[in-house]
Amino acid sequence: MKRLVGVKATVVTSVLAIGAIAPLLLAADAPQEMAVRYLLEAARAFRTVYSKTIVERAEKVGVQPNENWITEDHAIMLPAQFVKAAGAEIRSFDLGLIGLTPIYESNLPKTQAEADALKKMMADPDVKVLTFMDGNQFKGLAADYAIVQACADCHNNHPKSPKKDFRRGDLMGAIAVRLDMK
Ligand code: HEC
Repeated sequence: MKRLVGVKATVVTSVLAIGAIAPLLLAADAPQEMAVRYLLEAARAFRTVYSKTIVERAEKVGVQPNENWITEDHAIMLPAQFVKAAGAEIRSFDLGLIGLTPIYESNLPKTQAEADALKKMMADPDVKVLTFMDGNQFKGLAADYAIVQACADCHNNHPKSPKKDFRRGDLMGAIAVRLDMK
């Protein structure tokens, strides 16, 4: 009898212990989830400041954002180029911009999972950020909408753009963050 009580107590303790640990196990990917969300927010914030404040201010004195800014006097880089240039400086993770109908093929989703995530965002405008494990990388995408007409116009008129009918408000792609998981 005593032994049975002992066994029961062990079982109860084990069940309680599993109950206490389970939420921790479920939240096991929380740190990378948080990291990716913070990185996306920071990248978006820097680009917004660049687009809204710097570009606007520069335009007032006749300096325009231009894809060929390196060779043009009175030109600064496009917001997309600013994000990509920052990404090129970063060593510890991958920062980029992707689209399903990009101006350059190098901006296509890198995997099927990224393409699927972009399609999911396209289907539901309420989905602004998606995070997911993809191979050995933990990834996050932040939706990139044509918030002003100029986004749509420039892409539609670009000779290399395969899509010529973007409209204001359309999802044009996403900022992508990719973290290596070891
Ligand atoms: C003056 C032209 C111009 C404007 C305005 C512009 N873009 Fe772009 N965008 C480009 C070019 C050029 C690239 C490719 C840059 C590269 O990869 O070097 C690009 C790249 C992108 C990409 C990556 C996928 C792709 O198409 O290559 C996204 C997403 C994007 N832009 C969204 C936007 C959004 C959203 C806006 C408005 C807030 C915007 N763009 C405004 C020219 C423009």
